Amino acid sequence: MSEHQLKLKQDVAQAALHYIDDGMILGVGTGSTVNCLIELLPKRRLKGAVASSQATEDKLKALGIEIMDLNFVGELDLYIDGADEVNPNLQLIKGGGGALTREKIVAAASKQFICLVDESKWVTQLGLEFPVPIEVLPQARSYVARQLVKLGGEPVYREGFVTDYGNVILDTYHLAVNSATDMEQTLNNIVGVVCNGLFAANQADKLLLAKESGVEVLSR
Ligand code: A5P
Repeated sequence: MSEHQLKLKQDVAQAALHYIDDGMILGVGTGSTVNCLIELLPKRRLKGAVASSQATEDKLKALGIEIMDLNFVGELDLYIDGADEVNPNLQLIKGGGGALTREKIVAAASKQFICLVDESKWVTQLGLEFPVPIEVLPQARSYVARQLVKLGGEPVYREGFVTDYGNVILDTYHLAVNSATDMEQTLNNIVGVVCNGLFAANQADKLLLAKESGVEVLSR
């Protein structure tokens, strides 16, 4: 990562701190942008955090932040995470780090989802460059791949990677994501798919977009 990109990630993480209150149980996403935010979390006295991946959980624990089980905390006030692509409707592609399923669960269980990106993630249409990561039960990998080809996609097996849930990922290029909500649903309907990286029906509520000129806030 270039120094410039790191600076943008640090800027957007700093801006996100403004939305985090003392006493909150915070949903915390995964990736290099969120890692910049995690470093700042000791500035707040959180009641605890729900982590979206083992990697995030380990980082939070190392800072002494209490990890809570989503099943015992009810609805979270706030979930903060990065994204691989974001469109003007604040719909996202996520899962570059492979944590998409847990991320989608924690996002769904939160009242508000704030997404943090630098300007390199901003696109007019999802999926033209970044592939849609699809988490699949290992036994169904070939079957699901054939269905994805029928949809016009080009699935690539993420070799040597196993998700926190013991599944595999098919990074799928060239899917026609004209309607992200329709494609998200279509992918969910394929037997053997656990989750897909389109966050369309349940998109971000707010986007903090880091640019050279400063951090823009977009709401839907
Ligand atoms: C993790 O599975 C992803 O959804 C991340 O949120 C995404 O890859 C963004 O990561 P960076 O902040 O490292 O770009």
